Amino acid sequence: MARLFSNLLALAGLVATVSARVACRSEAKTYEAEDGILTGVQVEKTQAGFTGTGYVNGFDTGTDKVSFKVNSDSIKLYDLTIRVAAIYGEKRTSVVLNGGASSEVYFPASQSFSNIAAGQVLLEAGANTIDIVSNWGWYLLDSITLTPSTPRPAHNIEAAPRNPAADDGAKKLYSYLRSIYGKKILSGQQELSYSSWIAQLTGKTPALISFDFMDYTPSRVERGTVGTSVEEALVHHNRGGIISFLWHWNAPTGLYDTEENKWWSGFYTRATDFDIASALSSTTNANYTLILRDIDAIAVQLKRLQQAGVPILFRPLHEAEGGWFWWGAKGPEPAKKLWLLLHDRLTNYHKLDNLLWVWNSILPEWYPGDETVDILSADVYAQGNGPISTQYNELITLGKGKKMIAAAEVGAAPRPELLQAYEAHWLWFAVWGSGFIDNAEWNTPELLKQVYNSEYVLTLDEIQGWRV
Ligand SMILES: *[C@@H]1O[C@H](CO)[C@@H](O)[C@H](O)[C@H]1NC(C)=O
Repeated sequence: MARLFSNLLALAGLVATVSARVACRSEAKTYEAEDGILTGVQVEKTQAGFTGTGYVNGFDTGTDKVSFKVNSDSIKLYDLTIRVAAIYGEKRTSVVLNGGASSEVYFPASQSFSNIAAGQVLLEAGANTIDIVSNWGWYLLDSITLTPSTPRPAHNIEAAPRNPAADDGAKKLYSYLRSIYGKKILSGQQELSYSSWIAQLTGKTPALISFDFMDYTPSRVERGTVGTSVEEALVHHNRGGIISFLWHWNAPTGLYDTEENKWWSGFYTRATDFDIASALSSTTNANYTLILRDIDAIAVQLKRLQQAGVPILFRPLHEAEGGWFWWGAKGPEPAKKLWLLLHDRLTNYHKLDNLLWVWNSILPEWYPGDETVDILSADVYAQGNGPISTQYNELITLGKGKKMIAAAEVGAAPRPELLQAYEAHWLWFAVWGSGFIDNAEWNTPELLKQVYNSEYVLTLDEIQGWRV
């Protein structure tokens, strides 16, 4: 961490020179895994198609890694590619730079070696270390390649929300977001109570608060939950803040409610046998009706907010591509179908025109299409307070530069200096509550004070007036 921190001092100068950088693909340099420093892994040659003299296999425990010693003539941003074969199915790895910021990289399943774009790394002048650390493990690592990054092309963000009937509040929010996009980042936090905690610590209140419709879901209400997040959202709205909502949608029925999988974890795939694919297979089956019942219950809450003039960054069906929530458990097709149903029901049937629709998966095969999406986002839990540029770059590709991009849930607040150096133009970041914002392993009090008092980070006091 100390090393990363010393980097930051040099960053002011770097930010100024990023746009002056000249592309030069010939500067690409490849480092073979078998020449790295190996910890808990070994060199093999069985799988054909490797470069150099072999590849590295045996990532089977969390500390297994290959360390690459790499040099840079100056402090400079590089594109990182990883040559890998995920022959046992899709995997994830962690990339750790100079022992500090880590990022997570997804490897699609593949029977042969291929190059995977792995975001960017900001190298300091002289010696640097890049560690490829196991994470999910069980992939074959051939090499990494570093190429000096070219400057990011200008954004070309759509002028208005996709809903032609979007109300005045939604339009104003969208155009405000568009006006700051690429220039500043909105600070954000999950839960109102943690925003007060942040204010105590840093003297600043988050601009955006994210809330959950979870306890308004019928299969929870049946068991006694009483939602309070609408009232809490009104508190933040009334002081000029920006509101986001997600929805931990407890499955409509089929909750196991066992010792290991209680009814209140019923949004997890592991806690229910509710089958989204079969429920959506006909509009007459009983479970389709239950899906509509649940959507209509949330519509009641959304209408209360609409009547109070609250535009909402609405992020339902979050992390679908992870598969750990029932709406993603049967793959992309039913998840997209459910998104379109939800969008249609709320927009056309309930006339909820105060919503900006925030999609929350990265993989192209999960994307429900530009027509129903206003903003792209990702949830990323990686320690080290890095810029999360891998996911940012993937979302730029998904949205073709036309959609704004948000870090809708993070464990670690990103360092503003790194966001600027990497040109990772997240629209907002929102740190998860318990165990993350208040956990020094993810966010030290010092780090939070720096983030919340940075020029680049907008706080509640600095966004006043966005509605007028
Ligand atoms: C509805 O879902 C429940 C829970 O998974 C299941 O037991 C039931 O058979 C389903 N009903 C229909 C009509 O498919």
